[in-house]
Amino acid sequence: MVHFTAEEKAAITSLWGKVNVEEAGGEALGRLLVVYPWTQRFFDNFGNLSSTSAIMGNPKVKAHGKKVLTSFGDAIKNMDNLKGAFAKLSELHCDKLHVDPENFRLLGNVLVCVLAHHFGHEFNPQVQAAFQKVVAGVASALAHKYH
Ligand code: HEM
Repeated sequence: MVHFTAEEKAAITSLWGKVNVEEAGGEALGRLLVVYPWTQRFFDNFGNLSSTSAIMGNPKVKAHGKKVLTSFGDAIKNMDNLKGAFAKLSELHCDKLHVDPENFRLLGNVLVCVLAHHFGHEFNPQVQAAFQKVVAGVASALAHKYH
């Protein structure tokens, strides 16, 4: 299980308080679909994903990105129990959606890039280290129900 120090928790919570989940969510999911195009196959009901601009401007990508980051934000209120916080979503992604858990790690790293891009100097090495832990913890919690 991932353990967070008080400093890491404070760094994560404080930066997350400034994140615009709608904007960052759409950008993170959009970038995932552009950078790792095989992830598009999970979203074949999302309409036009034929180019970078189509993906980044697709309203379904934006709406779903917001949903994903909202649940991510709820979960980091429960940093000491990410497995519990993601139990239901792990079941959904495993049993119903059959998403390869490697994709959770990819999305986590894309999210780190989006935050770095957005926050610049404020996203210093210490803040990044804390975030890398949280995205790894979320990815492992989401993969927990896979067998
Ligand atoms: C941080 C990682 C992730 C989180 C927190 C997350 C969260 C969510 C949430 C909250 C939903 C909506 C569940 C509902 O409607 O009840 C969802 C649906 C879904 N997720 Fe994820 N997800 C993550 C990563 C991924 C990845 C990497 C993929 C695929 C590459 C994926 C594929 C899907 C699909 C296909 C759906 C259903 C979409 C639809 O409504 O048609 N998720 N996810």
